[in-house]
Amino acid sequence: MIRTKIDRLNTGQSLRPEELKSLVLLTDPELQRYLREKGRQKAQEHFGNGVYIRGLIEFTNYCANDCYYCGLRRSNRKVRRYRLDRRAILLCCKTGYELGFRTFVLQGGEDQGFQVKEMTGLIEDIRRSYPDCAITLSIGERSAGEYQAYFNAGADRYLLRHETANEEHYRRLHPDRLSLKQRKACLYQLRAIGYQAGTGFMVGSPYQTADHLVADLQFIQELQPQMIGIGPFLPHRDTPFGTFLPGSLSQTLNLIAILRLMHPTALIPATTALGSLVPDGREQGILCGANVVMPNLSPVQVREKYMLYNNKLFSGAEAAEGLRDLEKRLNTIGYRIAYGRGDYQQPHSLQERSTHVI
Ligand code: 5AD
Repeated sequence: MIRTKIDRLNTGQSLRPEELKSLVLLTDPELQRYLREKGRQKAQEHFGNGVYIRGLIEFTNYCANDCYYCGLRRSNRKVRRYRLDRRAILLCCKTGYELGFRTFVLQGGEDQGFQVKEMTGLIEDIRRSYPDCAITLSIGERSAGEYQAYFNAGADRYLLRHETANEEHYRRLHPDRLSLKQRKACLYQLRAIGYQAGTGFMVGSPYQTADHLVADLQFIQELQPQMIGIGPFLPHRDTPFGTFLPGSLSQTLNLIAILRLMHPTALIPATTALGSLVPDGREQGILCGANVVMPNLSPVQVREKYMLYNNKLFSGAEAAEGLRDLEKRLNTIGYRIAYGRGDYQQPHSLQERSTHVI
């Protein structure tokens, strides 16, 4: 019985892989409604009707990697590349702070053009100017030393999606020089250093199967990240995957609900990709258990150059300057913006365990 499985997830029990698979493949409308309602209730229990905001600063679209799905891949010669300097980035933070953001997410391609020293300098500047804010990095695979340097400089959080937890599938999405092993090693390093870590995957990426999604859920269960970002795959015409179909809305929503039940206190964004797939995608994500949105704080003139996929949203409620619009949209579904850093809340079971250790 599917309902029993959902109820078991809802009460903190774990499911066997084939049981998870039946939830990943769920299409029955009644059961999907039941699952999503449980996801929503679980988020409400822990976060009420508050949705955290993070200001996303896309500070460079240069990338040394060549991932087959991503519009910013190195081989895409049509991209006009840009790199924001320190002044421009600090200005984004200032604007964001005034708007009420208390988390800045510095996201970029794997840009070799920024020296480690430059990055640490930048992080130190932000840390000094905004001691009450969280600094999140999302700049891909780096050495352990580099991760440590950024942490020491004041970064708190790091986003690095694993993209897919299946080896073969990973190889179909990435060129040879990238490996799932290395990706996972980075995530464990980030955790060991003390970052709040985020991972995640695309739903409906080319060649993905239900078993791959089960592996994703299992990997996330093992890693226990503080943040989990998922969104539908969306094709970009100037990539090798340009003619593939986008990921499914309903499967993405089901997975948000499943992840919410498996990780009651995690920070789960209703992503830009979800909002780009359908106009009310982010609201639908929140109604299934997502509790974060990441409006765009990048300078307006560079936004269209950060095209991971076609038709990416970057204005209106998606933009930092559209916070009022976002607030209104959240209000219509019974939610509101939660200002504040919104740090990860340790589940009670873990809090107890750590006091025992002390
Ligand atoms: N569709 C959806 N998501 C994408 N990403 C990159 N390219 C695409 C795409 N075509 C996601 C990846 C990456 C994050 C920054 O954006 O999961 O980790």
